[in-house]
Amino acid sequence: MFERLREDIQSVFHRDPAARNAFEVLTCYPGMHAIWLHRAAHALWVREWKWLARLVSNFGRWLTGIEIHPGAKVGRRFFIDHGMGIVIGETAEIGNDVTLYQGVTLGGTSWNKGKRHPTLEDGVVVGAGAKVLGPFTVGAGAKIGSNAVVTKAVPAGATAVGIPGRIIVKTDAEQEAKRKAMFDAYGVSEDMPDPVARAIGQLLDHLHAVDGRLEDMCGALKNLGSDYCAKELPALRDEDFAEVKAEPRSDAATH
Ligand SMILES: CC(C)(COP(=O)(O)OP(=O)(O)OC[C@H]1O[C@@H](n2cnc3c(N)ncnc32)[C@H](O)[C@@H]1OP(=O)(O)O)[C@@H](O)C(=O)NCCC(=O)NCCS
Repeated sequence: MFERLREDIQSVFHRDPAARNAFEVLTCYPGMHAIWLHRAAHALWVREWKWLARLVSNFGRWLTGIEIHPGAKVGRRFFIDHGMGIVIGETAEIGNDVTLYQGVTLGGTSWNKGKRHPTLEDGVVVGAGAKVLGPFTVGAGAKIGSNAVVTKAVPAGATAVGIPGRIIVKTDAEQEAKRKAMFDAYGVSEDMPDPVARAIGQLLDHLHAVDGRLEDMCGALKNLGSDYCAKELPALRDEDFAEVKAEPRSDAATH
């Protein structure tokens, strides 16, 4: 249980640059509270304690503004950012590492019993206010734009935007430019299979965000007449990263 709790908290740090520490995440993230209450509600639901399950789910809704039917199946490291106004239907299925923003509906378009809500595979991101309606699948790693209304399957890795949802097709050059904008300065790109490189990439991203915040603070200090930030930081040298870029890891093929 503590392991699950730890990975829930980690998932917030990975996906919300505003998260500062574990205590803050535990106490101030309604998305987390909704997920924990949903786990309790779902456990009751599958043991046929249906009324109690609905009661726990309703308490979660009252507390967080997020409505997850206790019958919905949710994977690991599910992250709900902000959360208010989210509705997840009874037969929705959510894979691992899925992210939803506020105002998302995973709903149905019919009153038939049986599967009537969508299935989101691993790593799907659904933007604020989007509606995903019907018993189809949104493939692994797909993104749904904010305020889109999607009523048909979305292939893995695709991005759907607008009403009705349409798939954005990007040229190879555009995709390459986007990848380069990630971590290319350090020789690490988003789709590298190496988990160590990915972890370093995440750290660099975090460092970048911290840098930005420090810069703002220095600006504010300077306005107050302080010269605390006048001293230069030691520079990073390009050549220190050149080797990493040129030489693939010798053990890469064995993993
Ligand atoms: C859909 C999304 C994932 C697209 O990301 P992307 O792959 O980087 O796509 P781009 O930003 O390059 O945009 C590609 C095209 O789609 C359009 N587009 C992007 N998001 C859109 C949206 N939500 N609705 C309609 N069109 C959208 C862009 O204008 C662009 O159009 P163009 O090619 O005609 O110029 C992103 O825009 C989005 O909506 N993310 C959700 C974020 C969110 O909800 N945040 C909430 C924080 S509180």
